[in-house]
Amino acid sequence: MAMKYFSICLLVMLLQLNAFAQNDASKGFAFAEKQTGIMLKEIEQAKAAGKTGVSPRTLSPGGDLVLVPSKDWCSGFFPGELWYLYNYTNDVKWLELAKAFTANIEAEKTNGNTHDMGFKIYCSFGNGYRTTKEEHYKDVIIQAAKTLSTRFNPVVGCIKSWDNREWKFPVIIDNMMNLELLFKATKFSGDSSFYKIAVSHANTTMKNHFRADYSSYHVVSYDPETGAVLKKQTHQGYADESAWARGQAWALYGFTMCYRETKNKAYLQKAEKIAGFILNNHTLPADLIPYWDFNAPGIPNEPRDVSAATVVASALFELSTYSSIGKLYRSKADMIIKNLTEHYQAKPGEAKGFVLLHSTGSKPSNSEVDVPLSYADYYYLEALLRQKHLNGKGRL
Ligand code: GLY
Repeated sequence: MAMKYFSICLLVMLLQLNAFAQNDASKGFAFAEKQTGIMLKEIEQAKAAGKTGVSPRTLSPGGDLVLVPSKDWCSGFFPGELWYLYNYTNDVKWLELAKAFTANIEAEKTNGNTHDMGFKIYCSFGNGYRTTKEEHYKDVIIQAAKTLSTRFNPVVGCIKSWDNREWKFPVIIDNMMNLELLFKATKFSGDSSFYKIAVSHANTTMKNHFRADYSSYHVVSYDPETGAVLKKQTHQGYADESAWARGQAWALYGFTMCYRETKNKAYLQKAEKIAGFILNNHTLPADLIPYWDFNAPGIPNEPRDVSAATVVASALFELSTYSSIGKLYRSKADMIIKNLTEHYQAKPGEAKGFVLLHSTGSKPSNSEVDVPLSYADYYYLEALLRQKHLNGKGRL
């Protein structure tokens, strides 16, 4: 009898949690639809006033909408948000807008000057292909993978991140996010070279980017002739030996995705260790929205980085489907989403239509500190969709 009572209570509790999570997704998307309607008007006004650029990225210190050209690493996030709005609502209005904003950045498929191909092309065309199965989107992804592959150095075993800076061959942890495009390009084309490059990059990063506590360096600089590691540094974090919050988020998301695409258990274990570093960190606030760097010197008087929290939440939802401690990851992701939805959204009608406030782009260069950012909104919507699919026993 007691056992039956206990089982009923447990079931009621699980149903309640499920209902809260469904509620977050519907509240989050209802708000995102309204805000994106405002954003579209703001984009029109900015263009009418002579601004160029194809996608919104953030707000300027004066509060103006910042539109970026297709070559900017952030150009794919707004098209991606439009695909997610369509995925959630099935409203063809969002489909038409997603197609139009995605088309704006097609030229990037042949831009070999950057490693940010995944962010640009996969968040836009990748979501477009997942949604519509349109052949042209597949072709764009394959071409983008060919272009990205030109940045791979087999001696180093990695894709080069940046050109023309102080390093000979820098690789940043963010670069893990470009590998999904390569994995998919192999599936679409049958050309295994993209898959091999992705695996080599992930393995080399796993070997050289991490400390004993499973936190990640931001930049590892290699000698392109010998493959030797020359320096381990930061660029957007507080210090070379600190843990820049978004870098940890990219690492978590990247290795979780690599496990999905390869089923290599080493990637799963890496993702679990990174999740442990993030979730058990003594500077992680109770609401699970990290400061911009886990070692920022002025904690608790430091800006948060909501974008890192959204990437972590989305990654944890996926990781929860592979890990033996998946329930813990899912409850943490649910908590992040609940806190973002309740405490970090813009006021309705404000922030030029951005959804979330309080992200940090680059604190050391005093750029985009405590602002809305398009990638925070993108990964928030992705996390909401993953949460909804998980509640329906699927995965986005
Ligand atoms: N990939 C650039 C950044 O995370 O700021």
